[in-house]
Amino acid sequence: MTGPTITESQVLDALRSVMDPDLHRDIVALGFIRNMKIEGSAVAFDVNLTTPACPVKDRLRDEARQAVLAKVPGVTDVRVNMTAEVRRPQAPDTSALKTVRNIIAVGSGKGGVGKSTVAANLAASLAATGATVGLLDADIYGPSIPIMMAAGSPAEPRPDNTIEPGLAHGVRVMSMGYLTPGDQPLIWRGPMAHKALQQSLLAVNWGELDYLVVDLPPGTGDVHLTLVQTVSVTGAVIVSTPQDVGLQISMKTLRMFQQTKVPILGIVENMSYYVCPHCGERDDLFGHGGAKEAASSMKIPFLGEIPLDTAIRRFADQGTPIAIADPESSSGVAYHAVMGSLAREVSKQAFKNIALTIVEE
Ligand SMILES: Nc1ncnc2c1ncn2[C@@H]1O[C@H](COP(=O)(O)OP(=O)(O)OP(=O)(O)O)[C@@H](O)[C@H]1O
Ligand SMILES: [Mg+2]
Repeated sequence: MTGPTITESQVLDALRSVMDPDLHRDIVALGFIRNMKIEGSAVAFDVNLTTPACPVKDRLRDEARQAVLAKVPGVTDVRVNMTAEVRRPQAPDTSALKTVRNIIAVGSGKGGVGKSTVAANLAASLAATGATVGLLDADIYGPSIPIMMAAGSPAEPRPDNTIEPGLAHGVRVMSMGYLTPGDQPLIWRGPMAHKALQQSLLAVNWGELDYLVVDLPPGTGDVHLTLVQTVSVTGAVIVSTPQDVGLQISMKTLRMFQQTKVPILGIVENMSYYVCPHCGERDDLFGHGGAKEAASSMKIPFLGEIPLDTAIRRFADQGTPIAIADPESSSGVAYHAVMGSLAREVSKQAFKNIALTIVEE
């Protein structure tokens, strides 16, 4: 006995009940459903998400499967293949860096809060999800990314003046430090820094990138301005520690990004709490949670908190970010959670301007 014929539009109708929790649209309207195949009572399709780092991937897969099983009569088997394609924000599009879909600036109010460590861990863990990722160390005053990523070899410019990025832990790495001559003490004046950053952004052969993470020097200054004037920045991540959020400095950085029309993707609280390596007890050294409160009162996303953990520094010093060296550790898990939240916020930016104009087929 043959069952009722199942049609593609029946399956799509069923899938309209599955909502993307961040984009607040159903997955059919968002154009996520691809390659549908119906054979007898078996249905198979792809759900093409906005990032391979999507933290709700498994939930969406289950919901899609259940929706089809429950709503389309005669279906006995549903195979959902999760794929991803990172979109670029719709506007404004700059001609510079056409092959880079999203540029994420990592900044902080003051120095030493763990910006570079956060940038390296985010880049490496994004790459581990299958995304194509670049990491640019734009901290000319104290480049630390080459050490944290064990990507120490300076790139030789090609005859056509393009530079090949290094490759470390699946991440394409460039440091403005590579452009500085040897061990000479260097005083970068405004125009020099400006030129070096432009060269690091534009002369590097980044190739197709889903995400380019830019590790900025602390505070507000010329480098930030050059960055936003040279390329279109998808958004900024602000790293702060519990003891400095109350101060004006993080807010000053935040305002600088806002004034230059760079969306704030969120705040990360680093060195948020301490977990005793011996007894596992957690100690809120400086009264953690300040960044979360500040984010909430300013209505900007809170991306998560990273503990104060000597293993983070140890792995950084050895050249492998803990997020990939020991992803199961509590710090590894914390970085992954922040990375997932960040990827969500970036996807929201891509749909911010077009979500309303998607027409349902
Ligand atoms: N969560 C953490 N737990 C323990 N150590 C950390 C943590 N985050 C960063 N560190 C260590 O703190 C030091 C400063 O970190 P990092 O270089 O990332 O800060 P930064 O904000 O980039 O500094 P700068 O302003 O100089 O660029 C490094 O030795 C790093 O290994
Ligand atoms: Mg740094």
